[in-house]
Amino acid sequence: MILKNIEMRLNNNTVFDCSLIDVSKIQSKSGNITVLENGKDLPFHVKRIYYLYDIPSGENRGGHAHYELEQYIFAASGSFNVVLYDGVNRKNIFLNRPNLGLHIVPGLWRELVDFSSGSICMVLASHKYDENDYLRDFNQFLALKK
Ligand code: TYD
Repeated sequence: MILKNIEMRLNNNTVFDCSLIDVSKIQSKSGNITVLENGKDLPFHVKRIYYLYDIPSGENRGGHAHYELEQYIFAASGSFNVVLYDGVNRKNIFLNRPNLGLHIVPGLWRELVDFSSGSICMVLASHKYDENDYLRDFNQFLALKK
């Protein structure tokens, strides 16, 4: 019965519902500025920002899915790969520009891998932190996506 309730909360999104969003940059000879504004540049309202940094060589992050959270992820510095999985399709997205980000919809397994030395992964999120929104068991994820 509990499983049934959880099942109803995990949506049927696929990796093809995620998209790269190329944000413009304001260039000058002294450098670039990129602006992200709620209601203008992103498909959701940002409620939280966090970033990953000082990631040791060879370490991976992520390894979970979200029930409701949407995210916009980009490399503020350096590069990394985002691996998305919807239970059927796998997609690998390389991020290496501060003005090119990946919009990740809820209901997908994600792993962040291959961080370059000194890279910074910025994440803009649609919700405040809530551990109940995480699905961290891969086998449970596969079962719920069927
Ligand atoms: P987690 O989201 O599992 O990291 P990642 O997906 O990048 O590998 O979070 C790692 C730890 O940080 C975990 O104990 C939860 C905590 N955390 C917060 O307290 N608040 C937050 O906003 C985030 C993203 C994580």
